[in-house]
Amino acid sequence: MLNDKKILYSGMQATGTLTLGNYLGALKNWVNLNEEYECIYGVMDLHSLTVRQNPAEFRKNARSLYALYVAAGLNPEKNCIYYQSHVPGHAQLYTYPVLMAADILLYQADVVPVGQDQKQHLEITRDIAQRFNAVYGEVFTVPKAYIPKAGAKIMSLADPQKKMSKSEENPNASIWLMDDRDSIIRKFKRAVTDSDTVVRYAKEKPGISNLMDIYSCVTGKNYDEIEKEFEGKGYGDFKLAVGEAVADELAPLQKRYTELMADKTYIESMIKMNDEKAAFYAAKTLRKVHKKVGLTEMIK
Ligand code: TYM
Repeated sequence: MLNDKKILYSGMQATGTLTLGNYLGALKNWVNLNEEYECIYGVMDLHSLTVRQNPAEFRKNARSLYALYVAAGLNPEKNCIYYQSHVPGHAQLYTYPVLMAADILLYQADVVPVGQDQKQHLEITRDIAQRFNAVYGEVFTVPKAYIPKAGAKIMSLADPQKKMSKSEENPNASIWLMDDRDSIIRKFKRAVTDSDTVVRYAKEKPGISNLMDIYSCVTGKNYDEIEKEFEGKGYGDFKLAVGEAVADELAPLQKRYTELMADKTYIESMIKMNDEKAAFYAAKTLRKVHKKVGLTEMIK
C-alpha cells in the first residue's frame, strides 16, 4: 500500500439525493475516520443499474453524489473518491450478486463504515474472503463492518417503525441533505412521536428515540445528557432543538455543495486523478487473484 495506514472502503448508490439517514449512518463517519485510514470511496453507479435509470438524470445524480462527498468534508486530493464503473476490476472480480463483496475485496479494505442495513452484505463479503483464502491462500483482507452506535438506522419521521429511505414518497418522512433550514425545522416539528411528554430513550417510544438518536449524532451528547437537557420540557422544545441542530450541521455542507456544483472543473479533475488511483489498487488485487486461481496474464 501507499503508506502503512489501514484501508477504509465504502460507497453509496448514485440514485436520487441523500437522506439524513445516509449522512448520519455513513457519510459523517467517513469524515470522522478520514485521518485514521487510507480512504477509498466509490460512487456506486453499477449498483444503481439494478433498476432502470433515466440516463441524463443518472449522470447528474452520480456527479451530485461526488460533490456531496466532497462537500461533507472528504478530500479528493487525499482520499480516493472514484466512480465504480470506471474501474473494470469490479465486474471482473465477481459478477453482480456479489458486486458489493467485489468492491470491498478489490481494495483489500480493513474497515467498511456503513449503516445497519448493510450488515448482511458485509457478512457475505467476509464469508467469501475467508472461503477464498482457505482454498487459495491468503489473498483477501477480511473486512470488518464499522456500524456506528448512534445513527446506524435512522427512522422515517412520519413512521418511526420504517427506515428513512431515499425512495420515500411522503415529503414529511425524510430529511434530504439539501433541504433548507425552514423545511428541516418544519419536518422535525411534525415528526410522529407518542402521546407521552417525557423525552426518554425507550423501545416503546420509537419516534422520540429516533429523534434522540439524531440529536446525539449531531451534538455528540449521549442519551442521559439529552434526557437531562430536556427534563421538564415538552416535545415541542425538543423537536425544535433537533431541527435547529440538524439545520446547523447541514449548513456548511450545503454551502460547499453549491460552490462545487458551480465549478465543473474541480470535480472533473478529481475524478480523473482518482480513477487512476483506484485502478491501481484494483489491478494489484486482480493480478494476485488471477495468479492464485491459475489464470494467465494478458500478453501486452
Ligand atoms: P445505499 O446507497 O443504500 O446507502 C448508503 C449508506 O447509507 C446508509 N443508510 C442509512 N444509515 C442509517 N439510517 C438510514 N435510514 C440509512 N439509509 C441508508 C447505508 O447503510 C449505507 O452505508 N450496497 C450499498 C452501497 C455499496 C457499498 C459497497 C457500501 C455498494 N458497494 C461497498 C460499502 C462498501 C447501498 O446500496 O447503500
